Amino acid sequence: MKLDLTNLISLSQTRTENLFTYYLKEPEPAAPLLQDAMAYSVFNGGKRIRPLLVYATGLALGATLEDLDPAAAAVELIHAYSLIHDDLPVMDNADLRRGKPSCHKVYGEAIAVLAGDALQTLAFRIIIAHSAQTLPHQRLKMAAALSEASGINGMAGGQALDMGMKNPGLNDVLEMYSRKTGALLLACVQMGMAVADVQDAAVVDGLEKYARCLGLGFQLRDDLLDFESSHVSGKPQGLDVANEKATYAMLVGVEGTRKRILELYEDALGAIGVLGVDEEILGAVGRWLLDFPSPVASRRPHPQGER
Ligand code: IPE
Ligand code: IPE
Ligand code: MG
Ligand code: MG
Ligand code: MG
Repeated sequence: MKLDLTNLISLSQTRTENLFTYYLKEPEPAAPLLQDAMAYSVFNGGKRIRPLLVYATGLALGATLEDLDPAAAAVELIHAYSLIHDDLPVMDNADLRRGKPSCHKVYGEAIAVLAGDALQTLAFRIIIAHSAQTLPHQRLKMAAALSEASGINGMAGGQALDMGMKNPGLNDVLEMYSRKTGALLLACVQMGMAVADVQDAAVVDGLEKYARCLGLGFQLRDDLLDFESSHVSGKPQGLDVANEKATYAMLVGVEGTRKRILELYEDALGAIGVLGVDEEILGAVGRWLLDFPSPVASRRPHPQGER
């Protein structure tokens, strides 16, 4: 199937949101407030870049949209959970997420913690139980990639480093980024490959390098956004500075960060250029991801009119 970027962005949003509707709008949930908090945090206008990366990778390798759906939804649920916990007072203490009050501001800290927990387990339930055509060995690969990326060696470990670093140097910051943000983006590509049942080691290596470059570039872009207005990001402005977080942008400067993002984009393209996979859509996804916010801002008005 041949898709352009605009179609793929909108398809990633609608397909994942359809799955979320199915799983998060159960008629008689055991804990209605918890279900509300979970739904609040997934239906609030995220860009869905992780599902986009799953679909782009899988489609470039010949997988079907239907078979890619569970991986796309699962990684977005892990991401949503990570943001709920990231915003808590004990972590970044952020009151605003995607232009709306953070989950704990609406539902309280206890329910916010539990919403994160339940979104995480739902992610794995979808990989295991979804009615896609993928075989058990493919589902195991997806679950292994996603759990590795979410746990102590990945996002949770990176978040712990982020909270605990004292006077970090550039390498410490890069290590922390590769875990807290890079690992989940890597898992997107790994799950796309698992669904397509890729065996070729050169393709695996090239696409993993592509994902690592985008993962780092994406967090560098996010650091720059922290300097910009909250209208652009839907997040509190200057929170990294207020929380005395060491970011790459603070250590290297804005211009140096922009230059590094561009290099990473070129490295990402270089990594897939020789593989014989459909690089057009993967290149477009990379450009869009690192160029945020300009193409994103015009894409879909935020429900609150803010982005
Ligand atoms: C923000 O991720 C947190 C980072 C890991 C940089 P996104 O920028 O993908 O957040 P949403 O989902 O679009 O709000
Ligand atoms: C978040 O990094 C990474 C996560 C794993 C949630 P940030 O703390 O910079 O993300 P934002 O800026 O709050 O979205
Ligand atoms: Mg944080
Ligand atoms: Mg944060
Ligand atoms: Mg940030």
